[in-house]
Amino acid sequence: MLNDTQLLEAAQRFSTPLYVYDAAELDAALAGVRAAFTDTRIFYAMKANPNLSLLRRFRSAGVGFECVSAGELARAVKAGASGEHILVNGPAKSDEEYAEGGRLGATFIVDRGEEVALLPPSSRALVRVNPALSVSTHDHLATGAGSSKFGVPLSEVAAVVEALKAAGHTARGLHVHIGSAIRDAGDFAAAFAKLSELRPSVGELEVLDVGGGWSLDADLHGIAGQARQAAEVFGAQLWAEPGRYLVAGAGVLLSTVVGSKQTGRDFVLLDAGMTELIRPMLYGAVQPIRALWQGDQTKPYDLAGPACESGDVLAHDVPLPTPQRGGVLALLEAGAYGAAMSSNYLSRPRPAEVLWDGSWQVIRQREGPEAIWAAEL
Ligand code: LLP
Repeated sequence: MLNDTQLLEAAQRFSTPLYVYDAAELDAALAGVRAAFTDTRIFYAMKANPNLSLLRRFRSAGVGFECVSAGELARAVKAGASGEHILVNGPAKSDEEYAEGGRLGATFIVDRGEEVALLPPSSRALVRVNPALSVSTHDHLATGAGSSKFGVPLSEVAAVVEALKAAGHTARGLHVHIGSAIRDAGDFAAAFAKLSELRPSVGELEVLDVGGGWSLDADLHGIAGQARQAAEVFGAQLWAEPGRYLVAGAGVLLSTVVGSKQTGRDFVLLDAGMTELIRPMLYGAVQPIRALWQGDQTKPYDLAGPACESGDVLAHDVPLPTPQRGGVLALLEAGAYGAAMSSNYLSRPRPAEVLWDGSWQVIRQREGPEAIWAAEL
């Protein structure tokens, strides 16, 4: 974890808002995954953070990519991945995505029976299973429910596997992903148990892909053990697709205090908000926070961003020393779905991203106004 001096140096040198990543933490997260998921092929779900420097780092460590758009496929190729290292996923793939996945020789994750006829000839595919389970996470992050838009109902999986074979494709195996930011290993165990029930109807498989979805404090060894058991049922090799777990803890969003004010609440006003970190507003996410200034008195503040929206509040009731204009605040665990979900709303430039790897590297420059309107007439 980067210390306060390093974070303050980054804020001063590159100005804020700023995303800061720690290379040692990225490597440690991958090592942690590999220690739990032994004999497992890892496909990083790049939606969590698609920065090319991070992708190249993962690729050179032998990691593949789970992609859900033509843009993500292009990034995978740019980062040096070939078809063997690429999964093409998504509930509504475009013609362009089928064609590009086929050209690359990637493995498709089939999300509904109709896709069998849409795949390029002789494709390799996994069938995504909808295990019809409720999962302990925010509603927007749960994908395993029977009412969600994802996956093939359990009762139809065997027929889709058969249809793939009949159409000349290679049905490599099954896939399941029940949601994101899940703490409870029991949720994963329940999903894997549902999959195992399919053994008599689908037979042996080459691959069992157990998705991602692990919160930073999830019991990875417990989840991996359950996954391994399920893979053994099918005689399959285990694949996994972590996103958040690989990058969240390595990233910090730095923001500068612009001022403070009192209405019915005590606010600290920041130069970052919903355009840089939308997770608190979209999922009620609570990011750990560290003030990088000192002060004797501590009291709770709401942290408001600069957008003209009442909802633009990054956190409520955060105990902070008396705010000083120019003080720097660190929003921790922001390496996943921070920069990735940032926007140009209000014509705000996307922040720079920097990586500490013994020295500072700028891995994405701060946008200027021209970058924001470049595609407009
Ligand atoms: N595999 C599939 C099929 C997925 O849909 C996802 C995430 C992952 C893997 C990686 O999940 P992870 O390990 O990162 O939980 N924007 C939300 C998270 C949305 C996740 C969507 N799918 C957030 O900020 O929490």
